[in-house]
Amino acid sequence: MNETLSLNLRNIADFVSLEEVTALAQQSVRHLDSLNNKTGAGNDFLGWMTLPDDILPQLDNIEKCAEYLRSISDFTVVIGIGGSYLGSRAVIEALSHTFTSLRQDLHHEVLFAGQNLSEDYIADLLEILDKVNYSIVVISKSGVTTEPAIAFRIIRNHLEHKLGKAEANKRIVAITDSSKGALRLLSQKNGYRTFVIPDNIGGRYSVLTPAGLLPIALCGFDIRLLVGGAKSMEEISRTNRNGESNLPLLYAAARNLILQSGKTTEIMVSYNPKLHYFAEWWKQLFGESEGKDGKGIFPAAVDFTTDLHSLGQYIQDGQRILFETVLSVREPAKKVTVPEEEDDADQLNYLAGKRMSYVDHNAAAGTILAHNDGNVPVIHISIPELTEYYIGQLFYFFELACGVSGYILDVNPFDQPGVEAYKKNMFALNNKPGYEEAGKILKERLK
Ligand code: PA5
Repeated sequence: MNETLSLNLRNIADFVSLEEVTALAQQSVRHLDSLNNKTGAGNDFLGWMTLPDDILPQLDNIEKCAEYLRSISDFTVVIGIGGSYLGSRAVIEALSHTFTSLRQDLHHEVLFAGQNLSEDYIADLLEILDKVNYSIVVISKSGVTTEPAIAFRIIRNHLEHKLGKAEANKRIVAITDSSKGALRLLSQKNGYRTFVIPDNIGGRYSVLTPAGLLPIALCGFDIRLLVGGAKSMEEISRTNRNGESNLPLLYAAARNLILQSGKTTEIMVSYNPKLHYFAEWWKQLFGESEGKDGKGIFPAAVDFTTDLHSLGQYIQDGQRILFETVLSVREPAKKVTVPEEEDDADQLNYLAGKRMSYVDHNAAAGTILAHNDGNVPVIHISIPELTEYYIGQLFYFFELACGVSGYILDVNPFDQPGVEAYKKNMFALNNKPGYEEAGKILKERLK
């Protein structure tokens, strides 16, 4: 039987009392009501709340499209940035074999592009694309974001030269706004197959739309289980007005009380490298949703035990502005034990016969206590195993917590006015028509 992720607040008790947490969670029911009744800030971006049901009629089409691309190509280049990329990458990295690129037995591989403006990155990718049979999925809600737009132009040109425009057009799928933006226009002109990111869902809440689901399905993962996991979390939280049992509400309350105690940075800690991109997704969700009006908790992430040998020192002993949210997986998918050696030259026989996960769990338990002793509160979230279902639960858990947490902070968790500043400067410095005056001023400042 499927379980629910668990939230353990024991290791924050020396910093904020659990009574305070449940009290704030209960008070925050009004924010949950605002989300459900669409009466709070950003209320035209709440489509994600009922997505686990609303997306169901589209799953067949998404699966069929993934099957089609897998049947005509060995690779798909998935182009997108921010919310149009991080959710699918989080799931794909979490569920793929660690050494995917070295395995010969895979049906289909996804290569990512459009997340940077690095010439070397795109040149390396083109070298690979010269030699392989590939398709393109381009994802941009606005349809005009510079990084994916440039990557798409370059890779589309490559595919058209390789196969001819007519064949290339059959291998391009665009996921974008229903009517606006350059990508929608291009799709209409060239007859690309398309999916829509609904108007009422912002990028960082879009993982359960085709933007996240098509790349995940392309890699052969079960999008129905993912959506099912999200649905299970929706069922126990979206309309649950009991603060004591509502997990996203408790998490939102705990992190805000810890913030009020002076800890301004939350570090997501994971002990499984496969969760690295999940933490990237989480960073974007909370960073873009809360970091505004001079407010917000700064979201950071580390991979333990790797980073215990770098940032571990700071976390234990540096500025006391940190708290951690540990995300752990109770049961690994595979089993490896430490072998016994007769001479015990490396003195590890005390672990002989033990599983790696035994050592890892003890490392995690010991680190939580050490960090607690170093004045670092630790929230602990765990899932039974790393599967589509539990990742779906995590997505909905954090999305709902983020909406409530934004309202506790009194910010609009569904806009991102701050990301425009760099874009304007970049356009001006690149001489984009309409930005000439701003360009002159910036170039003076750079002299
Ligand atoms: O969450 C967001 O809204 C952003 O991170 C966007 O997803 C990101 O900027 C990409 O935008 P677009 O999908 O319009 O290309």
